[in-house]
Amino acid sequence: MPIVEFCGERIECERGATLRTVLREAGLDVHNGGSTTLNCRGHGTCGTCAVAVDGNQNEPTNREQLRLSVPPHDPEAGLRLACQIYVEGDMVVRKHPGFWGQRADCDPE
Ligand code: FES
Repeated sequence: MPIVEFCGERIECERGATLRTVLREAGLDVHNGGSTTLNCRGHGTCGTCAVAVDGNQNEPTNREQLRLSVPPHDPEAGLRLACQIYVEGDMVVRKHPGFWGQRADCDPE
């Protein structure tokens, strides 16, 4: 079973599980600040679950590509929407600052 690393936690999940759901069921929030309550609940339309992901995952969905092409997101930033990611294998996930998690430019690492 794949392992997802996020915020210092290692979560084991079923292959093909949706990343946002995996994190939420582990008690981890992929949203920043007010977007914890103001979000589309995983429909791929709000863009607030954006994360940086390294690992085995599906190709971006059409809905995801559309949302990530609209500011404040930048399609060149390489972010994904956690609600549109199917965990295909081990992965490391990072959340950037900003309401949408879009601020890869000010990541402290
Ligand atoms: S929760 Fe809205 S795009 Fe993922």
